[in-house]
Amino acid sequence: MEIWSEQTIKDFQRTLLDWYDKDGRANLPWRLNHEPYRVLVSEIMLQQTQVDTVLPYYERFMAILPTVQDLAQAPEEQVLKLWEGLGYYSRARNLQKAAQYITNDLNGHWPESADDLQALPGVGPYTSAAIASISFGEVVPAVDGNAYRVFSRLLKIDDDIANTKARKVFYDAILPIVDPLRPGDFNQAIMDLGSSYMTAKNPDSQGSPVRAFNAAFRDGVELSYPVKTKKKKPVKQQYMAIVSEKQGNLLFEHRPDKGLLAGFWTFPLVEINSIDEINGQQLNIKPIIHVFTHRRWEIWLVRQQLKPSENQQYLSSDDWQKLSLPTIQHKLLKALGELE
Ligand code: ADE
Repeated sequence: MEIWSEQTIKDFQRTLLDWYDKDGRANLPWRLNHEPYRVLVSEIMLQQTQVDTVLPYYERFMAILPTVQDLAQAPEEQVLKLWEGLGYYSRARNLQKAAQYITNDLNGHWPESADDLQALPGVGPYTSAAIASISFGEVVPAVDGNAYRVFSRLLKIDDDIANTKARKVFYDAILPIVDPLRPGDFNQAIMDLGSSYMTAKNPDSQGSPVRAFNAAFRDGVELSYPVKTKKKKPVKQQYMAIVSEKQGNLLFEHRPDKGLLAGFWTFPLVEINSIDEINGQQLNIKPIIHVFTHRRWEIWLVRQQLKPSENQQYLSSDDWQKLSLPTIQHKLLKALGELE
């Protein structure tokens, strides 16, 4: 691993921030105003979702729930509805819990340090550091996938980022480099580098504003960084989604409060070990695919007449259109619409 001198660190900070001021994405809505609520919402939305996808959701969310109090008091259904399509809905539920904690338990007073911000539900080491640096000026590195990629290349850090110990190695390596006067801009400039000149697959290190500081580029090995052991493939699971219709209404099932899709309404889903187990009229020839972090579901729509059990209910389209449905259920309804 490279160790930079004080002078190199100063040169890097100036080079990075000059570039950010000239070519950074300064007009992103969460950068125009550093109010912590605006930054929190943006960082939670951006956790598993790309900037371009987030933008319209963010604008709508902010227009409808402009303050932390508005979010704290909103019905959960409304929050989920605003989140519909972004996926990973526990993010939305935690975001609202965080707003309630700040509003009700802290009387609207925000924690200001990265350490204290971690008390908020859904806010981990990365998100707390992002908010603390952007909104409160704390000098801390925000270590996300971008920071891993950018600094592993600049400094040739060989630690495996799949390993939880890597976070501390990167944190300790980046901390002395964070610009003490503009920590939030520094962290966001690293994100911009990570999505422009220092991407995973097509880095343009030759054109990069920080190429002179890039040890992996100098040695012709940038695509070997970050070092990461391969993830296991998601486990394949097969399901029948039961299409049970009565007088134009469809049978929905309210899923348990724990586990995948907790608390959502979907068609009744029955796991099968093989498509030979399908009984009823199979509607699609190719399965509908839905990928979660550790699972890959293959789903067949199967027409069957069911008697509703306790957690199941026939719903008219007016009824189910008012619910916040998970993406997977949208896929099933869309497939059904295309089949019928
Ligand atoms: N990804 C995560 N946080 C971000 C931010 N503040 N700006 C751009 N991309 C991001």
